[in-house]
Amino acid sequence: MIDFPEIKRLTEEEFARFAKLIYEESGIYLKETKLTLLSNRLRKRLYALHLDSFSEYYDYIQKLPDKKKEIEALIDVVSTNETYFFRNERQFDALMKHCFPDLAEKKKNERRLRIWSAGCSSGEEPYTIAICVLESMNLFKEWSVEIIATDIAPSVLEFAQKGIYSGRRIEKVPPDLLKKYFTNDPNHPELYAIKDEVKKLVTFKYLNLFKNPYPNQLDIIFCRNVMIYFDKEHQKKLIAGFYASLLKTGYLFIGHSETLHAISDDFSYVKILDSPVYVPKGK
Ligand SMILES: C[S@@+](CC[C@H](N)C(=O)[O-])C[C@H]1O[C@@H](n2cnc3c(N)ncnc32)[C@H](O)[C@@H]1O
Repeated sequence: MIDFPEIKRLTEEEFARFAKLIYEESGIYLKETKLTLLSNRLRKRLYALHLDSFSEYYDYIQKLPDKKKEIEALIDVVSTNETYFFRNERQFDALMKHCFPDLAEKKKNERRLRIWSAGCSSGEEPYTIAICVLESMNLFKEWSVEIIATDIAPSVLEFAQKGIYSGRRIEKVPPDLLKKYFTNDPNHPELYAIKDEVKKLVTFKYLNLFKNPYPNQLDIIFCRNVMIYFDKEHQKKLIAGFYASLLKTGYLFIGHSETLHAISDDFSYVKILDSPVYVPKGK
C-alpha cells in the first residue's frame, strides 16, 4: 500500500472543474457522488508530480504548452479498468457456437476475420477472444484473423502487452484452457503468462473513442462495460460509429448491464444462447 502525503479534500468546485475536463477529453461522465472516488484517483497524479493541492494540479495542466501527455495520464488514473478472462462467459459461448460458424460460412471466400475489442483494458477480453479463435481453428484454417484491442489508458495497454496475469483475473479460465494457452513459471507459481500463439493474434493500441477514428470493415465488436461511463449523447455517438464500422454480417457485443434501448435503432437485438447480441439493420 502506497502512503500518500496529506492533501486537502477535493472541493466541490475543484471536482466540477476536473469532471468537466475529463468529460470533454474522454466522454467519461462523473456524477457529484463520485467526488471521493475522483479525489482518491487524482491523488496519484499529485503525488507523482509533487503537488500539494488539486487546484495546483489543475493549473499545472492548464499551463502546460502541450497538455496531451498529462491529459493522458489524468484519464489513465481516472478510468475504471476492472476486467477478467471469460467475463460473462455465456457471450463467449454465443461467439464460438453461433457467430464464428456463421461468419466462417458467410465469409468463406474472403477468409478474413476482423474483431475489435473497444475499451480492452488490461487485455483479458481480447485474449479471451483470441483463445476462442484458437479453439475454433477448424473453422478458420488459413484465414487472416486480426483482433484489434484499444483503450484510452496507456498503463493498462502496457500491462496487456506483457500478458502476465494472476488471481481473480484468470479465475474463470477453464483449467484445460489455462494449461493450453498460458505458461506458468515454477519460480512464480501464481503468475500465468499468455502464450505467443495467443499474443500474436492481438494488436494493442491507444484509441480514444471520441477523438480517434475507428477501425473499419469489422466482423465483430466487443465493447463491454465501457458505455456505462458515458452519458447518452456520447453513447449515441459511440453506437453510430460502431454501426458504420461493422460489416452487414457483423455482430456487436455489449456488457450485461448495458442496452441500446433509447440509444440506437440501427441494431436488432437477438438472444443467442441466452446472451444479448446486436446485429446491424438494413446495411
Ligand atoms: C471496465 S473496463 C472494461 C474492460 C472490458 N471491456 C471488460 O468488459 O471486461 C472499461 C475500459 O474502457 C476504457 N475507456 C473509458 N473511456 C474510454 C474512451 N473514451 N476511449 C477508449 N477507452 C475508454 C477504460 O480505460 C477501461 O479500460
